Amino acid sequence: HVTWGDAHEDFLHCLSLYSSNDSNSISKVTYTPCNTSYSSVLQSRIGNVRFNTTETPKPDVIVTPTNVLQIQATIYCSQKHSLQIRIRSGGHDFEGLSYVSSTPPFAVIDLTNLRTVNVDVASKSAWVQSGATLGEIYHGIGVKSRTLAFPAGICPTVGAGGHFSGGGYGVLMRKYGLAADNIIDAHLIDVNGRILNRASMGEDLFWAIRGGGGNTFGIVIAWKINLVPVPPAVTVFSVSRTLEQNATKLFHRWQYVANMFPEDLMIQLIIKKDSSSQRGNSNTITAFFYALFLGGVDTLLPLVKEGFPELGVMKEDCKETSWMEAQISFATGFSGNLSTDVLLTNASIFPHKFKQSIDYFTDPVPLAVIEEIWKRIGENVEIVWLILTPFGGRMSEISESSIPYPHRAGILYQMGYDVGWDDGSAETSQRHINWFRRLYSYMTPFASKNPRGAYVNYRDLDLGTNLPGHTSYETASIWGLKYFKNNFRKLVQVKTAVDPTNYFRNEQSVPPFSS
Ligand code: FDA
Repeated sequence: HVTWGDAHEDFLHCLSLYSSNDSNSISKVTYTPCNTSYSSVLQSRIGNVRFNTTETPKPDVIVTPTNVLQIQATIYCSQKHSLQIRIRSGGHDFEGLSYVSSTPPFAVIDLTNLRTVNVDVASKSAWVQSGATLGEIYHGIGVKSRTLAFPAGICPTVGAGGHFSGGGYGVLMRKYGLAADNIIDAHLIDVNGRILNRASMGEDLFWAIRGGGGNTFGIVIAWKINLVPVPPAVTVFSVSRTLEQNATKLFHRWQYVANMFPEDLMIQLIIKKDSSSQRGNSNTITAFFYALFLGGVDTLLPLVKEGFPELGVMKEDCKETSWMEAQISFATGFSGNLSTDVLLTNASIFPHKFKQSIDYFTDPVPLAVIEEIWKRIGENVEIVWLILTPFGGRMSEISESSIPYPHRAGILYQMGYDVGWDDGSAETSQRHINWFRRLYSYMTPFASKNPRGAYVNYRDLDLGTNLPGHTSYETASIWGLKYFKNNFRKLVQVKTAVDPTNYFRNEQSVPPFSS
């Protein structure tokens, strides 16, 4: 980069100097574009291939630290040489912000080598490093105990680092809340290179890192998580219905019942169309009802028959299994593959380019809106996933200010909108993004209001971005209040206290108040 000039030599020298006990190994985990492994390291954790093109801005250097000293050296030298840092754990940021920056030069600290999962069954807790994936965490718990679990997301390749930083919902949400609700300690490296734990960082910063968004308050290297009890046998089912099989009325009815069930039962609704020639090749719209029940089939069936008889769930649809196998079923869309390899894979369930966002609903949408959604999904777009997750249960009991994630009591369900496409042409990308924006706009009157809620882990830069220089509180509030509601001001206060020069930043990170 012209802006960075020859400074990278000085930067590399600085790195080896300031991690001097370790100078051999830091050079082995430092990659510049001249390095033959640079591209494969960069691409190894790109969660959205929309940001894997020749035009995508690339980092000037990638460091994959194997220890804390190397992270401290990278923070110090990056500041000294005016290099911005992007932190990458699982690389699943929807807008690619963990490995792309619109304001070069920048370095990526990629935590792929810090992925240890230490489960302590006796204390019902675990220390997990940020580079571990959810699948690795579920596997680590599952092989040690059939009756312990962790309430986090569904996709096994999502990284702990970003996921816990933004909240983290999954199929145990109605019973135990979010991943971030169940974090009890953390190790964070701050802008001055200090290693802090819960006691030394203080409760305000500890509050902020559990949901206030990544790349903002420092680098979290490890999290202590509270493991939650589950029965040795849980029950799962998958029921699919096409439009001809009454999917419209089932979607409509689901909105009234899914959040009212006991908190032991989660019935997610996933609407899918996959007409991509590389995979689905079909224009059929199908509604999949995926359920997890913390109990046996004989208790589950009467519950569903009473609360949602229209779904017509039969005993043959249900399977009693362990919690870990249930996670595998969800991760594979109930494909029947129950290999634990699914939890340890690097292969994303979204191998295509995509654009996503989310809405929260406090009222059911009318049948006519569902009909309109079908009409739009039927248009000329390749892949559509709508992921509807019911709230209620524990989510209604946790206060809006308990952690920065504010969407709690009163929410019936959330709906994630995902449009995907394979073809690389700019026209195709624009057509899909335009479609997505029209759908999002169409849903405005039916979604939550004042403000319309959003979720920082479903990052959407359409909601507004920081400015390249200083961003005022008012400008950042445009997107900040949607993600965090009344918690936004406190996040800005914490940011001002711990990183007043805004060193850790991205296009949508909480800024400090101006001095
Ligand atoms: P990534 O590494 O891209 O990080 C995301 C953000 O956090 C970036 O800004 C990054 O800089 C920052 N960051 C990363 N590590 C950090 C660290 N150690 N310290 C400080 N900042 C750090 N969500 C959900 O709640 N439930 C779900 O079921 C799913 N499912 C799902 C499936 C698929 C296929 C995708 C692509 C995404 C999801 N998500 C999700 C969304 C997911 O939770 C969200 O994208 C997370 O931020 C991803 O975390 P990663 O570490 O993988 O991403």
